[in-house]
Amino acid sequence: MKIKKAVFPAAGLGTRFLPATKALPKEMLALVDKPLIQYVVEEAVASDIPHIIIVTGRGKNAIEDHFDVSYELEKTLEKRGKTQMLSKVRAISDMIDVCYVRQKEALGLGHAILQVRHLIGDEPFAVFLGDDIIDSAVPCMKQMMDAYDRCHGAVLAIQEVEHRDVSSYGIVKVNSSDGRLHHIDDMVEKPSAASAPSNLAIIGRYILPPAIFDILEKTQPDINGEIQLTNGLKQLLREPGVYGYQFEGKRFDAGDKLGFLKATVEFALKNQDLGPAFKKYLSTLDLSIYQ
Ligand code: G1P
Repeated sequence: MKIKKAVFPAAGLGTRFLPATKALPKEMLALVDKPLIQYVVEEAVASDIPHIIIVTGRGKNAIEDHFDVSYELEKTLEKRGKTQMLSKVRAISDMIDVCYVRQKEALGLGHAILQVRHLIGDEPFAVFLGDDIIDSAVPCMKQMMDAYDRCHGAVLAIQEVEHRDVSSYGIVKVNSSDGRLHHIDDMVEKPSAASAPSNLAIIGRYILPPAIFDILEKTQPDINGEIQLTNGLKQLLREPGVYGYQFEGKRFDAGDKLGFLKATVEFALKNQDLGPAFKKYLSTLDLSIYQ
């Protein structure tokens, strides 16, 4: 079955980036010249997923404005003859057919996904977490959709992480592999380094079957009162099966300050207009003067 809908949970509070995210949604932080959420939405579009559903919450209006037509701005750019910038701005609102759903309380990723149940119906769908920016020749989700055609289970993007970092992720245990596709037989959300079953972490891209909704309705909140998707996914291990796909590409944790800085430097260096001048500037820096 073809994946036609992509869900973007974007109601989180962005506490790792305070105070920058006090009034600005973290999804709108700019990586070089585009907000983070545009990168992930572009990945869905490049993977040929036609319908976009963004789960927002209070204080997230800037996201809706970003993907809307900006009439005054377009008129001004037109009058000033800034045609290139005008077409860039227009392309953003033309890019997607989008629905917004409000998650009234930030009760976890599983809860965010439950909010879109009525818009998905009885079909598999994709989930993108905006903190994970993946730079790859073939869009990560496209790679996963090809894997899904082979296994027809739930498919999660996975990547090896440093052992000391396992407690920041959902960690999977795999029992058999076919190239980059691994069959998962257990998973645990944010384990301690001592109890983690491996260092294979779930990265923010998922293909989920509609059966996940009934499961999440019954999934108990964790000690922080959040419904964890990872705990729901465990119920799918036997039927239809859960698979981890070790994608090809470089992933940046843009929800973390250091990860965001790394992404900024690398995306700026790759940028056609800025890259050469930025590279030159970096080469003039004397790093020995910093601690
Ligand atoms: C979420 C998931 C976690 C996953 C991570 C990937 O955690 O719950 O399983 O490994 O995204 O970025 P969060 O980072 O939202 O706490």
